[in-house]
Amino acid sequence: MQALEGIKILDFTHVQSGPSCTQLLAWFGADVIKVERPGAGDATRDQLQDVPGADSLYFTMLNHNKRSITLDTKTPEGLAVLWRLVAECDVLVENFAPGALARMGLTWETIHAANPRMILASVKGFGPGDYEHCKVYENVAQCVGGAASTTGFRTGTPMVTGAQIGDSGTGLHLALGIVTALYQRTHSGLGQRVDCAMQDAVLNLCRVKLRDQQRLERGPLKEYSQFGEGIPFGDAVPRAGNDSGGGQPGRILKCKGWETDPNAYLYFITQGPVWEKICDLIGEPDWKTHPDYATPKARLPHLNEIFTRIEAWTMARTKFEAMEALNALHIPCGPILSMKEIAEDEGLRASGAIVEVEHPARGRYLTVGNPIKLSASPTAVTRSPLLGEHTDEILRDVLGYSPAECEALARSGAIGAPLGVAAE
Ligand code: COA
Repeated sequence: MQALEGIKILDFTHVQSGPSCTQLLAWFGADVIKVERPGAGDATRDQLQDVPGADSLYFTMLNHNKRSITLDTKTPEGLAVLWRLVAECDVLVENFAPGALARMGLTWETIHAANPRMILASVKGFGPGDYEHCKVYENVAQCVGGAASTTGFRTGTPMVTGAQIGDSGTGLHLALGIVTALYQRTHSGLGQRVDCAMQDAVLNLCRVKLRDQQRLERGPLKEYSQFGEGIPFGDAVPRAGNDSGGGQPGRILKCKGWETDPNAYLYFITQGPVWEKICDLIGEPDWKTHPDYATPKARLPHLNEIFTRIEAWTMARTKFEAMEALNALHIPCGPILSMKEIAEDEGLRASGAIVEVEHPARGRYLTVGNPIKLSASPTAVTRSPLLGEHTDEILRDVLGYSPAECEALARSGAIGAPLGVAAE
């Protein structure tokens, strides 16, 4: 038995934010029924395609453990099936542009009237306000949520991060909202709306920068490199390069081989309690008692000098040698792992962080496993569905359509390909 077994999700999501949420719910055992437009499906199926004729990795890596039904919800017959799904399911998840669901006739009021227990979960770019009607993609969310203005180097342009904090970050928030609403329903017997704005989700992940904005009003941010460099602060939180966002100063330092390997680097943290060990390790035992280096506060104006000295030590070792030596002394650090190193990491495969999946059109591929491990609800990652692969069985088994009704639907064109023939 899995944690969400018995919960049916009407998955009306596309691209990344919504699908990342429903994939998590599927991994916890919910029956996730993905509704897709006949003939086309989720736009990501053919975005960044690497194997001709096969669903892209973009799609497959966001839609595991789901079923797919094709339905043209702009036809009366298709819309009628959608309403049958609303009556049957526990949660409707959608991330269409603002207003799209209402244009199909699905408002909170009509959904709640049809199925009072249904939870309606939506991702939009912005919450209520001036921008609520705007369409939003990942990098837009990173820009308006405070991530871009605080990422990168002080003298460079704002930067977006490789982590999809706008899309998958919002999907994670939405999934928590959904299971929370499911729990409240066990008491109230009623569904509710769950709304997550991408701007808000990114901001939630950038909270330390809102912290710094308020600290800045009371004086310079002394743990930022520019403080030690004597560069004055403006009125907004600056980009801090690779300075640590927490109270323990850290930097990315070169390791042996950095001249040719773009990832021969290590993140080094000068954590207070291990400072004396660091001094011994790098051959500066006098720094343990020197007034400029002995305390975390005294060290702040000297961070550039300190990290330059530590880097002389890291540059004499590979990132893995440095990691081993530092961890032996409980000094926190992190080698900069390339995606190639991560993909080939046996330990990550053994733990299920990375899994290999077989797909009928593309063969074997790697994907990310469920990072949330429930001891009584283990996740087995299964491949994403082909477009419309489960149309027939969902109509029959979930909605109870008779063979004659299924035939009539097929003739209407509302479900696309003939029954039993999954489009590829
Ligand atoms: N059958 C018929 N029509 C369907 C359908 C189906 N099965 N599924 C969707 N559609 C239609 C909708 O009714 C809508 O049509 P309408 O605009 O005529 O009412 C349309 O497809 C949905 O389009 P939209 O959401 O506007 O897609 P888009 O490609 O233009 O925009 C986004 C994509 C992501 C920018 C937009 O959906 C958005 O801003 N979403 C909210 C924020 C978000 O999640 N962004 C991150 C995505 S990773």
